[in-house]
Amino acid sequence: MSKFDFANMAIGAIIELKGGRAGELMDAALCDGEDRACCPGTTLHLHYAAELKGKQDGLPELIRALEQLPYASIKLVRATAADVSDYVRIGRLTASRINCVTTDPAEAIKEINGFAVYLLEVGGQRVGFISYTDEGPDYAYIAEVQVDPDFQGHGVGGFGLGAVLKELASVRTIDLQTHPENPAQKLYERYGFRSTGEIVKNYRNTGEPRMLMVLEQT
Ligand SMILES: CC(C)(COP(=O)(O)OP(=O)(O)OC[C@H]1O[C@@H](n2cnc3c(N)ncnc32)[C@H](O)[C@@H]1OP(=O)(O)O)[C@@H](O)C(=O)NCCC(=O)NCCS
Repeated sequence: MSKFDFANMAIGAIIELKGGRAGELMDAALCDGEDRACCPGTTLHLHYAAELKGKQDGLPELIRALEQLPYASIKLVRATAADVSDYVRIGRLTASRINCVTTDPAEAIKEINGFAVYLLEVGGQRVGFISYTDEGPDYAYIAEVQVDPDFQGHGVGGFGLGAVLKELASVRTIDLQTHPENPAQKLYERYGFRSTGEIVKNYRNTGEPRMLMVLEQT
């Protein structure tokens, strides 16, 4: 899939999510970085609509172009043990010194059975996953957000995080851990997470640190 095909799918998906209203799409496309935080899940089209905007002569042309784009879907699909191979395949693509994710099928099945795990599907292709544990009405922990490197930076992770936070809207405290060098913390900050200053020094005996980030909801 070329970058442009992906852009088409991404924008198509947002049009679908927004009920096909290109005007509304344009409003969001024109909003600046600050506004992204108030419209979670729209980063995909913001990114590409802005790119397309540069290629169009004016708004009417752009709106026409957007309306002609094919519809596609971005979905969160609840994972079951049968999805373990996708989980492990994605984990193998993203595991690194600063990102500890299991690539062991038995461990992955435990996580799928123990956490709420959602696969992130773009146009029917499984390109990532996000998971959390929900421990009562007051607390939840975001365990994983992983996106295939070929699809990173296009809003997929943000889309998943936005959807999960919607599901956890009534939970008072949500936290997560990330490596201090992981650029993912920018994404988390965009969704309201803040560093507590607390550092875990030897996370899961990897010799690498983790910082704790918390989102407090009223
Ligand atoms: C972190 C991750 C899940 C984000 O998903 P994504 O689809 O790339 O994220 P989005 O496109 O929605 O958002 C991009 C934001 O995430 C941050 N980011 C983190 N890693 C990134 C990457 N490899 N490429 C681009 N952006 C990345 C950027 O700061 C960016 O913010 P900006 O647009 O304000 O610059 C994904 O990059 C990934 O899988 N990384 C490797 C695994 C990992 O480290 N997971 C987090 C463990 S705590």
